[in-house]
Amino acid sequence: MLIGLDVGTSSTKALLVAPDGAVVAAATREYGFDTPRPGWAQTDPRVWRRASIAVLRELAGHPRAKSIQCIGLTGQMHGLCLVGDDGEPLAPAIMWNDQRSAPQCDRLERLMGAPEIVARTGNRLMPGFTAPKWAWVVEHEPSIARAARHVLLPKDDVRFALTGTAATDVSDASGMLVLDCASRRWSKSMCHDLALPMDLLGSLHESHEVCAHLNAAAAAATGLPAGLPVVAGAGDQAAQALGTGIIDDGQVSCTIGTSGVVFAAGDRWRASPDGNLHAFCHAVPNRWHLMGVMLSAGGSLQWAKRALAPDLADAATNAGVDAYPLMLELAAAAPAGCDGLIFLPYLSGERTPHADPHARGAFVGMTPAHSRHHLLRAVVEGITMGLVDGLDAMRAVGLTPRSIRLSGGGARSAWWRQLMTDAFGVPTSTVQVTDGGAYGAALLAGIGTGCWTDAAHATRHLRDQDACAPSGINAMPQDRYRAAYRALRPWFHEAHP
Ligand code: XUL
Repeated sequence: MLIGLDVGTSSTKALLVAPDGAVVAAATREYGFDTPRPGWAQTDPRVWRRASIAVLRELAGHPRAKSIQCIGLTGQMHGLCLVGDDGEPLAPAIMWNDQRSAPQCDRLERLMGAPEIVARTGNRLMPGFTAPKWAWVVEHEPSIARAARHVLLPKDDVRFALTGTAATDVSDASGMLVLDCASRRWSKSMCHDLALPMDLLGSLHESHEVCAHLNAAAAAATGLPAGLPVVAGAGDQAAQALGTGIIDDGQVSCTIGTSGVVFAAGDRWRASPDGNLHAFCHAVPNRWHLMGVMLSAGGSLQWAKRALAPDLADAATNAGVDAYPLMLELAAAAPAGCDGLIFLPYLSGERTPHADPHARGAFVGMTPAHSRHHLLRAVVEGITMGLVDGLDAMRAVGLTPRSIRLSGGGARSAWWRQLMTDAFGVPTSTVQVTDGGAYGAALLAGIGTGCWTDAAHATRHLRDQDACAPSGINAMPQDRYRAAYRALRPWFHEAHP
């Protein structure tokens, strides 16, 4: 048996996976994150550590837990976790969707030059990435930067708490912007220019490699055996892709979690041509991937639940059901194109395609004729059109996906799948396992301990289902959506200089 542990943005989830690939048990603990100022997103890493111990303890109580061989870790990418001498967090983790380091990005780009940064790392500096967050701490909290003994990503902070080992993997490290993604090695020159001592970074591994073992304290807290191997694991998007079988050159997936991601696997390195797409190492040796990332895809729907449908949310909670299908039912009652209403889903700024930390959400084109149905549908259409922007950024660099595998919360609705399929203009499907990130982490644990020989072997049981062809009935105003951002951009920048 294998465990996959996913330290996500809104919950930590652990799966118990059998050698035939079946999910035998799952455990989840939910939490939120703090936004002390607009554009900020942070969490005390102890929240993630505690949730991880709780879900592991739950799985350790399962009748088949005695045969657990290994744990694989995955989690939200890019977050900056600083650990002190005593092994405790020194400050709240600055998360992937935090935009506070925009001025550091500007300064570092002026200093080093954007082309030079792409040459060293394969990617363009963005506030979401870890390196500029470190620069922010050095500038604003120098005593915390000086006290740091380890600079860790969220899943790696959990690993450190469980094993005492500071380590990371190439796919997650890609999002720090101190990795030379082409050679899959730390970039000494980036660390130097960022005043980031390299000994603060953990040891670096391929995703399937065993790099740590459960320590006695974690064994006592979870009920799992001390010495249990832990593989390096992967960033959540690479793990999600592996867990949905996206490993071969040209395969493309689209995932709606809090973020929204279009992901294309590749068997050769190519840097992000214009910085619109992320170019990262895959969780499979000698594979890389391109990725377009929206910051608030599911996040926009979470916002809509709170702001537009609190009654539905309450009713759903009382009935013990999920509110999102009810919201999507209301949305489906409005016509395609929402009678001219457009929603821009840039609640936390945006990465792909705008790389704009100052962008904000907006409803544009409202009239008295618009009802709550329209507002909800506009949110769904806005998220979908944001994903099309990511897909078109891939088409612009010569990728022509023939099909797309959908996963994450948005893929659960047949109605939204059809909307996405129509907007992408490409057939879509899902796979039978819906716990992508945690599942991919469990597959890595199995590859690392010899249950499967490699990624192809580990994913060969995955099957396409929910095949959907473009119908042409859900036409969306993609050009007007793009024009709305262009028109509002000066205002966004004036309002948030
Ligand atoms: C990827 C990204 C998000 C987070 C949270 O670049 O920032 O997908 O990993 O899921």
